[in-house]
Amino acid sequence: MFQRFRRTRLNKHLRALVRETSVSVNDFIYPLFVRSGSGIKTEVASMPGVYQMSIDEILKECETLKKLGLYSIILFGIPDVKDSIGSDALCEHGIIASSVRAIKETHPEMFVVTDLCFCEYTDHGHCGILNHETVNNDATLEISAQQAIVHAKAGADMIAPSGMMDGIIEALRSALDNSGFENLPIMSYSTKFASGYYGPFRDVAESTPSFGDRASYQMDPANRREAIAESIEDEAQGADILMVKPALAYLDIVREIKDATSLPMAVYNVSGEYAILKLAGKHELIDYNRVVMETMIAFKRAGADIIISYHAKEVALMLQNV
Ligand code: PBG
Ligand code: ZN
Repeated sequence: MFQRFRRTRLNKHLRALVRETSVSVNDFIYPLFVRSGSGIKTEVASMPGVYQMSIDEILKECETLKKLGLYSIILFGIPDVKDSIGSDALCEHGIIASSVRAIKETHPEMFVVTDLCFCEYTDHGHCGILNHETVNNDATLEISAQQAIVHAKAGADMIAPSGMMDGIIEALRSALDNSGFENLPIMSYSTKFASGYYGPFRDVAESTPSFGDRASYQMDPANRREAIAESIEDEAQGADILMVKPALAYLDIVREIKDATSLPMAVYNVSGEYAILKLAGKHELIDYNRVVMETMIAFKRAGADIIISYHAKEVALMLQNV
């Protein structure tokens, strides 16, 4: 006697009935890159379909996103001026604060997440204040708390610290609580690896470090136990949502953290992962739409509740057409 697994595969309605995992437009957060000026919409060479946009263009983009049913975005800023401490990120007239205010005024129903880091704002491109050649953890916590308050006052709906500083969640939670923002959620980039997959992002965000790399604060891709411990530590410090980043090469880590926490889990399907599929699709090496959808299903199957992805608009369109 053997099991006839094919019995439930022979009819497409039955296949739909027994399908364990699904992807919905509600699962996505779409990344947007904002810079000053007007009428600016510059495509990034390494990421076809991804643009640096001025605020007026971002407002138009939100209109498009809403029509697709995409209401959640995560904002990255490219400031006019960079300096050693990333002052633009600490200023209520900085690029992110100005964008958040404009978006929430024109599209109050959008859910605006702000990436909280310093690498896009510092002239050295590292994720915090430098002490000689390394990032000073505790000094960076202080300015990160300031940045969180700037985002919160501008109207951000959720803060997402991505700099991998120790103690950041506790620092942000207490700063937000002390300023009356106790209901503002924190989505932590809790397990973020030092990854080559971020290459194209650093082009679009203009945030490549001017010297060295991020290995003294981002995680070693080889470490599994540490990856789990970092996320669980952020849960203990008060994170509302945990994250694994990048996504594709780390789905084992997604599953393990998911099994170790009851918090919602996000994956960041990063720039290099996007670029690889785009290029393979362009050269007709793969059936692009099919591979994108298969990839999104894999994230959900691994345990992701939320997918941050440059593919979000394409996926929303695909979901409309099924
Ligand atoms: C900044 C930040 C990075 C990404 C999101 N926030 C890059 C980095 O650490 O260099 C990567 C996103 C992507 O590759 O799509 N801390
Ligand atoms: Zn950073």
